[in-house]
Amino acid sequence: MGNESNINWYPGHMKKTSRMIEDNLRLVDAAVELRDARIPRSSSNPEIDSLIGEKPKIVVLNKTDMADPASTAEWISFLRDGRTIATAMDCKGGAGIDQFYSAARTALHDLIRYREERGQGGRTIRFIVLGIPNVGKSSFINRLARKKTANAEDRPGVTRGKQWITIQNGLQLLDTPGILWPKFESEDVGLALSWTGAINDNILDVEYVASRLLERLRGIDAGILLRRFSLDIQNKETGYDLLEMIGRRRGLLRRGGEVDTERTARIVLDEYRGGKLGRITLEKAEDSADGHI
Ligand code: G4P
Repeated sequence: MGNESNINWYPGHMKKTSRMIEDNLRLVDAAVELRDARIPRSSSNPEIDSLIGEKPKIVVLNKTDMADPASTAEWISFLRDGRTIATAMDCKGGAGIDQFYSAARTALHDLIRYREERGQGGRTIRFIVLGIPNVGKSSFINRLARKKTANAEDRPGVTRGKQWITIQNGLQLLDTPGILWPKFESEDVGLALSWTGAINDNILDVEYVASRLLERLRGIDAGILLRRFSLDIQNKETGYDLLEMIGRRRGLLRRGGEVDTERTARIVLDEYRGGKLGRITLEKAEDSADGHI
């Protein structure tokens, strides 16, 4: 699924995608929305709620192995409302599976009771997995299926219908996730998606993206920059100054002694994305007090 990030989201494509999701939603009882726990706001798409209508929704904050645990806990309580339950997972390492099932049971409580009252308690409950590119939809499906799913494309000549994966007694997942488009409604969203690598680096200027990341990291905790890059900062440097300071410290110089800021920017982004700066959440729940999250 990696090259999903290179998809061009133009209106016709978005319309086709939402139609496919709407068709698949008719077949399921509930939706699982995957988000990146480091950027829970920017990795969501506000249209998801109008797409799924009244169906219960479980938000999975994925990649929690790279997010700050206290911030994740705040997001989980912030996102909870009438028909939405949030839970945290690390689909790479496998943490959070039991919590997902318990969140699913809570979200489906009313539906299960309704069915039991009508003598349909044994009916299978079906989910669809939704999310923007790179949040871990395939990893989530594979993790719950405990195996790699076969791709239709890998089997020439085979056209297949809907495939359901039984993940637990009475629970099934549609094996193909619905890909939502990122919601570039402000520059902040574009930056956040670039920081985590959810969108292609080439969309924005890499030095600008890295400079803004350094400013955000300093705002969260200047100690992050001190620990990783030995930067003792005064709080008055621009992000670009910080980038130059890091390049100089690391000896990333061009001929003539000038800092190679482009190379430095790529290294800073790689190290953040690789978790080398620590477990850091870049968007806090308290900053989402109003508006969509
Ligand atoms: P998608 O279907 O939503 O597009 O996402 P996908 O599962 O392809 O995952 C995107 C990338 O995120 C993959 O890395 C995947 O390994 C990684 N990932 C998924 N879940 C987690 C998680 O909980 N923690 C961490 N740290 N990473 C996660 P990749 O670099 O594209 O591929 P690879 O590293 O698996 O080779």
